[in-house]
Amino acid sequence: MKSRAVVLVSRPHGVAQAENFAIREAELGVLPEGHVRVRNAFLSVDPAMRGWIADRGNYSAPVEIGSVMRSLAVGEVSESKVPEFRPGEIVTGWFGWQEFADVAPSSVVRRVKETDLPYSLALGVLGINGVTALVGLETIGEPRPGETVLVSTAAGAVGSAVGQIAKILGCRAVGIAGGSEKARTCRELFGYDAAIDYRGPGLAEALAAACPDGVNVYFDNTSGAISDAVWPRLAVGGRVVICGTASFSSWDPWPNGPRLERHLLVKRARAQGFVVFDYADRWEASVAKLADWVRAGKLRYSEDVLDGIEACPDALAGLYRGENRGTRLIRITK
Ligand SMILES: NC(=O)c1ccc[n+]([C@@H]2O[C@H](COP(=O)([O-])OP(=O)(O)OC[C@H]3O[C@@H](n4cnc5c(N)ncnc54)[C@H](OP(=O)(O)O)[C@@H]3O)[C@@H](O)[C@H]2O)c1
Repeated sequence: MKSRAVVLVSRPHGVAQAENFAIREAELGVLPEGHVRVRNAFLSVDPAMRGWIADRGNYSAPVEIGSVMRSLAVGEVSESKVPEFRPGEIVTGWFGWQEFADVAPSSVVRRVKETDLPYSLALGVLGINGVTALVGLETIGEPRPGETVLVSTAAGAVGSAVGQIAKILGCRAVGIAGGSEKARTCRELFGYDAAIDYRGPGLAEALAAACPDGVNVYFDNTSGAISDAVWPRLAVGGRVVICGTASFSSWDPWPNGPRLERHLLVKRARAQGFVVFDYADRWEASVAKLADWVRAGKLRYSEDVLDGIEACPDALAGLYRGENRGTRLIRITK
């Protein structure tokens, strides 16, 4: 039996393009002792992958040239040479952009227990996106009922969950998204109280109108010009969750921006960086909570599914073109 994999063939400058990857096919050999073989059903496409292949390492070592592209995935155990996993179990973990993955048990993040829900959600609202939204908002944002929570990439996988969780927690949710269609989706599908198209004119004025009492919590997924417009709107005691920097395609040369210290001082505000993988101990409880909200119809999601491993090489560039409508996934098996 053969398996295809997407391999990193050159290091991108800025956002990875299709030509940075190649699809390679190989015979599936004998499963090594101490490993499980997972038949991937869905592969994840996350903005963070840009950082995982950049030549400057970020919070993880860069993927090596010639290696299978690192990614989260969900699939079925097809063979097992460890006692912990049995064939037929649905698991999610670090299985990479490939059809079959032979991995050690340490690469499995969790068994998918929410069998009443589509298991693609293990890569979205019940996976990295939902857990990032919940843990980042609760732990660093510390929202209180009645406060205004402002979210960038508000229609996206993480952002759409942040806005809805803010509403569940009794806050007022304001979204920032690219284009009038995404802004409408924020209001109509995800229940934001207000949503701003950052590509339209007058972002600063639109923020002032949408957040008349200031911004208590800013869940920042973009940095850049969007955030520059938000800092002056922080309320006294504001909290900024630095979750993503989607507006930058490269850190070379290092981008300059306005000084923030005066805003933080005058508003007695704080900004804190956040990486969800530091909160592995919160994963199970977070997924259980998110799943209950999905079942109760309180937490909606949208998926942007591309078909076949051939869709992988251009999938990441597409995220940075803003073409995804929700969690971007690659479907491998139907
Ligand atoms: N810290 C962590 O642990 C952690 C974990 C997961 C994700 N994240 C971060 O969370 C953010 C959202 O991730 P996601 O998976 O939910 O992706 P997503 O929001 O579904 O997709 C990425 C979005 O980024 C926006 N974007 C692209 N280029 C932009 C630009 N130049 N300026 C402003 N926005 C731009 C686009 O939305 P628009 O069309 O609205 O511009 C695009 O749809 C990313 O920054 C990601 O790195 C962080």
